[in-house]
Amino acid sequence: MSKKLYIETVGCQMNVLDSELVVGALRRQGYELTHEATDADVILFNTCSVRQHAEDKIYSALGRLRAHKRRHPDKVLGVLGCMAQKDKEWILHRAPHVDIVCGTGQLARLPELIAAVQQTHTPQLALSLDRKEASRIEVERSFESYDPLRDPSMRPSPFQAYVRIMIGCDKFCTYCIVPSVRGPEQSRPPEHIAAEVRQLAAEGCKEVTLLGQTVNSYEYQYADGRRERLSDLLLRIHDTPGLERIKFITNFPRDMSDDLLDAVRHLPKVCEYLHVPAQSGCNDVLKRMKRLYTVEFYRDMLQRCRERVPGVAISSDFIVGFCGETEASFQRTCDLVREAGFKNSFIFKYSPRPGTKADELFADDVPEEIKKRRNNDLLAIQNRVSLADHRRRIGQTVEVLVEGLSKTELKASGGRPSSGDSGPKQLTGRTMTDHIVVFEGHERLIGQTVQVRIEEATALTLFGTVVTNERIGVEADRLPQVSSFSLHGTNRRVNLPLI
Ligand code: 5AD
Ligand code: SF4
Repeated sequence: MSKKLYIETVGCQMNVLDSELVVGALRRQGYELTHEATDADVILFNTCSVRQHAEDKIYSALGRLRAHKRRHPDKVLGVLGCMAQKDKEWILHRAPHVDIVCGTGQLARLPELIAAVQQTHTPQLALSLDRKEASRIEVERSFESYDPLRDPSMRPSPFQAYVRIMIGCDKFCTYCIVPSVRGPEQSRPPEHIAAEVRQLAAEGCKEVTLLGQTVNSYEYQYADGRRERLSDLLLRIHDTPGLERIKFITNFPRDMSDDLLDAVRHLPKVCEYLHVPAQSGCNDVLKRMKRLYTVEFYRDMLQRCRERVPGVAISSDFIVGFCGETEASFQRTCDLVREAGFKNSFIFKYSPRPGTKADELFADDVPEEIKKRRNNDLLAIQNRVSLADHRRRIGQTVEVLVEGLSKTELKASGGRPSSGDSGPKQLTGRTMTDHIVVFEGHERLIGQTVQVRIEEATALTLFGTVVTNERIGVEADRLPQVSSFSLHGTNRRVNLPLI
């Protein structure tokens, strides 16, 4: 009988990718995925530490499994990722039934750790060094970029994939735990990335999203001193046969260089979409956050993006209720959101993270009620801006990569695309500017690029009708059927910005 694996993933796209790779590696060892934790021989949680709430959710999930694990001591329970790296042995104090604690930089060891638990029945820890614990080079070595062979059947969709181009972060924004749990910034060799993209495209992948905490800081230095930046990398992978779209997330405002913007403008496969978190519109707050720019710099950067890449869509992240954020500072953030024309913004209430500079230096002095209210107010402003942006698109015909059934359709079908040749369904996809478009069409359009005329808009979604597929010049409904499509990949697709 095959062994069963359950994995639950929270957090950013980097975690989604890590889980996909972990599942691929364990499948090669004979594991099969199950969607029921209590059914599994190995239960894994791939965790996030960016906000307290994400950690609380994992500790309660672990708590719910305590009795189950007592009844089935041979089952293996593992905590992976950022929380593992941050809380280390402490996880075993809080949840002594956990068998494996494995940090983000040690995931390659997971199969070996599982085997060790099964043989010895003793907890296994695999952690990278703390940043202050050793020299930079030693700490770097302890954070290994996890890039094993990819398994196409493990991706949430066969025609879209994440590709890691760097790990870690060196920015040390004062609120952020990422530099400690994901280690020093290290860029992967361009040849490795290009080979991975070639392999993915050869397997039918049409869209890759390059991942990095500050993806536009990507820089690989060869032994002879030559350097390759993100703009060079985009050029290098651009002509990969079969590849249609390239995205990259998340950008750091200070590193939004002109050569990168020119690459976005001139390389037709690169999406005209930039996620560049501002975090705040108030200089005092930005200074306390140590974001290394002023709001004036950020506004100029936005203007530069729009001038160099006509039609570009820009999205942002904001933290409300950061230490010392007054009503006046918050209003400056509101002004920025009113004026900047973001496609959308992800808004978070500040959550103090032990081990960060902000937690050490500043009081978390904005009451929860005020954080909530500011969150709602900012969201309402952003929604008005998004709606106005969406309404301007009514009447346009846009190119959409069809991703799958719409949320409404998925609910109606119990989460699975139907197998038979049923009638039109409500489908969802994205434009080159990352706008979500919902329209009616046959399921066999999934994975295809179609032309959709926009007819209606809400703050979150554009609605339209398929015109024709101009790329291959046939009626959209007569396109060939996609060979395989499964929404039941490794995990849920999380629509969160990368951190
Ligand atoms: N509290 C709240 N939000 C945070 N983020 C990062 N750290 C924190 C924190 N301590 C947000 C930032 C980042 C996004 C992914 O998460 O806005 O861009
Ligand atoms: Fe790095 Fe982004 Fe965290 Fe700042 S917010 S420390 S840039 S991961």
